[in-house]
Amino acid sequence: VTADGFSDAADYRRVIARFATGVSIVATRFGDIDVAMTINSLTSVSLHPTLVLFCVEKTARFLDAVLATKEWTVSILGVEGEAVSRWFATRGRPLEAPLEVWATTPGPATGLPLFDDAIGWLECRTFATHDAGDHTIVVGEVLGLAAASGERPPLLYYESRYRTLPQ
Ligand SMILES: Cc1cc2nc3c(=O)[nH]c(=O)nc-3n(C[C@H](O)[C@H](O)[C@H](O)COP(=O)(O)O)c2cc1C
Repeated sequence: VTADGFSDAADYRRVIARFATGVSIVATRFGDIDVAMTINSLTSVSLHPTLVLFCVEKTARFLDAVLATKEWTVSILGVEGEAVSRWFATRGRPLEAPLEVWATTPGPATGLPLFDDAIGWLECRTFATHDAGDHTIVVGEVLGLAAASGERPPLLYYESRYRTLPQ
């Protein structure tokens, strides 16, 4: 226990779970296989140049793919995205499992998959990576973007549960 009462990982998880986030799917390519992973660490970083970041666990298979390919997409999920989020957060799922079960469209800037059901999309090229404990911070320059038309509620993650905004 440290002087400020911080005792263990469970305490950290309990407190950081109070920080409500959106949920996104990052996608890239590994060889000729499209790969994707659920994240809630997406953060806007800079406007000029336009940069965003996400954090990826060093043990995630996605990390090797994104470091090799250096381009990736972000699909920001709406409330209908819970099933896709659960699937791409499942550890040990077959990597070769076709992304095609989910409707995707190749991004115009990168050719990498954008999930059709999402409410916003970014296409990025890796700008920098930073070592950060058991994660790597991947910073990307935004090459292309789009928003879904109409107002669709976001998928949120709070206290380890999926939520959305009250209507
Ligand atoms: C809501 C939610 C958010 C997540 N956010 C992240 C994240 O930001 N970074 C990360 O590395 N893993 C995150 N995960 C866990 C990964 O999605 C999970 O470990 C994934 O299966 C790793 O896939 P891979 O090893 O097949 O690449 C999150 C999981 C959930 C349910």
